[in-house]
Amino acid sequence: MRHTAIDPALFVENRARLRRLLLPGSLVIVNANDIPATNSDGTRRMAANSDLFYLTGAEQEESVLLLCPDAEDERLREILFLRETSDLIAVWEGHKLTKDEARALTGIENIQWLPELPRMLHRLACEADHLYLNSNEHKRAEIVAESRDARFTRWMQERYPLHSYHRLARLMHRLRVIKAPAEVELLRQACAITKAGFERVARFVRPGVNECDVEAEFAHEFVRRRGDFAYNPIIASGHNACVLHYVDNNLPCQDGDLLLLDVAASYANYNADLTRTIPVNGRFTPRQRQVYEAVLRVLRASIAGLTPGKKPKQWQEEAEELVARECVGLGLLTQAEISVTVTDPARKAVKKYFMHGNGHPLGLDVHDVGFTTEPFAPGWVMTVEPAIYLPAEKMAVRLENDVLITEDGVVDLMADIPIEPDDIERLMAGK
Ligand code: GLY
Ligand code: MN
Ligand code: MN
Repeated sequence: MRHTAIDPALFVENRARLRRLLLPGSLVIVNANDIPATNSDGTRRMAANSDLFYLTGAEQEESVLLLCPDAEDERLREILFLRETSDLIAVWEGHKLTKDEARALTGIENIQWLPELPRMLHRLACEADHLYLNSNEHKRAEIVAESRDARFTRWMQERYPLHSYHRLARLMHRLRVIKAPAEVELLRQACAITKAGFERVARFVRPGVNECDVEAEFAHEFVRRRGDFAYNPIIASGHNACVLHYVDNNLPCQDGDLLLLDVAASYANYNADLTRTIPVNGRFTPRQRQVYEAVLRVLRASIAGLTPGKKPKQWQEEAEELVARECVGLGLLTQAEISVTVTDPARKAVKKYFMHGNGHPLGLDVHDVGFTTEPFAPGWVMTVEPAIYLPAEKMAVRLENDVLITEDGVVDLMADIPIEPDDIERLMAGK
């Protein structure tokens, strides 16, 4: 791992929070992710499994967590199984966690090597009534490859067909959406790395630089600060900014165009999510500034509108209403067009210019887990990302900040990243 050590009290507390949600006689099993294959014998760096990390801090491949809070033998109530190193592994892959290191990392006393797993699992499964297994559940995830957890679930159900099975994901989503102070601190660090990347890029961009060059500047700043890209960066100049998931990042930035940067860092597996839109030549045209200020007003109002008790759906509708009114001011829609009541929300006039969500929970996943059918509550971290897309004018403006909801109001975790158009111009001028 590149990040500095995290106090294991976070993971100890996360396990305690999970235990409080379990039925009596439960056994929870969480697997690491697979190492993703490319082609031939190629692989890519493994992404830590977010739930395993949340509960243990472990990022090593093949790790397995068992939680059995009611196990008769107290020593078996929390066990982490690890891949044991060997001379061969040491030469080819380098260091693997020792048992002592794993204890210090996770706060789990009982660390075992993987060959012990079947025997101990069998013993605990015979004691337990309820088996909580993990699954990747997100309404937009298209799952084509069977994950390690999914293979494990199949194997368990063949072996123990009469147990009562439960989706651990339901509980993890409930827990993970509320961020502990230590998690907010890690998110702040991801935001600080993101800020450094953005400020470097703002000073670097000028007509003629390629979007690839911009990506490289971010990469340098993120990696040297022990971060990484939180998601595939979107570096979209001119018309490219109207492609929502543009990731080619391979065209020259033209004088007079805007450049949309949806680029952020992760740190210790916690993700920031930032969007800024800047003028390639360092000066907004009057029209660009007009659209920019409209989006900025919506961003400000949407941040203020993140109040505990409000449902995300209502917040989305409020943002669409705000963008719609701005579109009238910008001469894009008429008052009559935005006043029509439509039964199908997808047919609202404003959707032509603002067709995506105004934000999402953020954390160990960029589109983080959580029940977005439920009202906002203190501890949620949300992105706020209104936009106006104008392909006919070869531009788009999207602005995105990350915000913590508290009982006493919102805390903008990106409040120190320049966003006012004058501040952007000053920054780009090297002032
Ligand atoms: N960068 C992905 C998003 O804004 O949701
Ligand atoms: Mn984003
Ligand atoms: Mn986002």
